[in-house]
Amino acid sequence: MRKTILITGAGTGIGRDAAFALAERGHAVLATTFSASQADALRAECAQRCQAMEVFKLDITDAADRNLLLGRPIDVLINNAGLGESGSLAEVDVNRIRKVFEVNVFATLELTQVALKGMIARQSGTVLFISSIAGRLPMPFLMPYSMTKFALSAAAAGLRAEMDQLGKNVQIAVIEPGAIHTGFNQAMTDRKYAWMDESSYFFAQAKAMKVKEKRTFAFLEARDTRSIVAKIIAASEARRPRLRYVAPWIQGFGIRLARIFGA
Ligand SMILES: NC(=O)c1ccc[n+]([C@@H]2O[C@H](COP(=O)([O-])OP(=O)(O)OC[C@H]3O[C@@H](n4cnc5c(N)ncnc54)[C@H](OP(=O)(O)O)[C@@H]3O)[C@@H](O)[C@H]2O)c1
Repeated sequence: MRKTILITGAGTGIGRDAAFALAERGHAVLATTFSASQADALRAECAQRCQAMEVFKLDITDAADRNLLLGRPIDVLINNAGLGESGSLAEVDVNRIRKVFEVNVFATLELTQVALKGMIARQSGTVLFISSIAGRLPMPFLMPYSMTKFALSAAAAGLRAEMDQLGKNVQIAVIEPGAIHTGFNQAMTDRKYAWMDESSYFFAQAKAMKVKEKRTFAFLEARDTRSIVAKIIAASEARRPRLRYVAPWIQGFGIRLARIFGA
C-alpha cells in the first residue's frame, strides 16, 4: 500500500538513502532537510535519478518549519534528524549537551506532537524514532550524544504504550542503528578535540584516544546503509511494527551480550 512518508534530516546519510529507497518502493516521500542548500542538492539528485520526491527544508528546531506539517496527511513520520556530540561528562560544557538534547529529543518530540494531531484524528499513522545502539549501552566520551538516544528510546517505548491505550491505531517504533559509515561518527568524535586543551583531564590521553577511535570505527562501521534502511522500510510498511529494530544484526547481538555481562 502506497504511504505518505515524511523523513527528517534527509539531506545526507541514512535519511537520504532511506528516502530514495522508500520512493523506489512507490511511496510518496516528503524528504526534508536541515538547510535550504541541502534541499536544492537533494532536488538536483532526484532529477538526476529520475526519482519523484517532494523536498523541502525543515529545521526541526524551528516552530514555523514544524507547522508545515499541519493539515498534511502523513502516514509515517521518520524522526531521523540528529546531532552528535562527544567529550567526558566530567568536563564537557553542559550547554553542548543541552544543544544535542534540543535537537535529538525536544525538537523531535515537538515535531512528533504536530504529526500525531493528524494521525490521532485520522486514526492511522506510524512514528519511527531513529535512536541508536548508543541508546542501549553507555559509551564513554560519547555520553553527550548517548544520553539523548537513551532518552529517545525510552520516550518511544512510553509513547507506544500511551498510543496503545488510546486505541487510535497509531504505531510507534524505534530504529537502533549500529555504527554505520556516513561520516557522522567521525564528526561526532572529533568535536571534543576542538575544546580539549591542556586544562582537560584527558589532554595527555587525547592523541592515543583519537587513534583508538579512528581504528574502532574503521573496524565496526558498516560500509553502507542498506541493513538499516531495510529495517526502516520494514517498520514503515508494517501494520503493527515491532517496538525495536536493530541493524547491523551483529552489532545488535554484541550490545545484547554486553548487557548480559553487565555493561
Ligand atoms: N551513522 C551512524 O553510525 C549512526 C548510528 C546510530 C544512530 N545514528 C542516527 O541516525 C540518524 C542519521 O544519522 P547519519 O549517520 O545519517 O548522519 P547525518 O548524515 O549527519 O544525518 C543527520 C541529518 O540530520 C540533520 N540535522 C541536524 N540538525 C537538524 C535539525 N535541527 N533539523 C533537521 N535536520 C537536522 C543533519 O544536517 P547537517 O548535516 O547539516 O548537520 C543531517 O542531514 C541520526 O539521528 C543519528 O543519530 C547514526
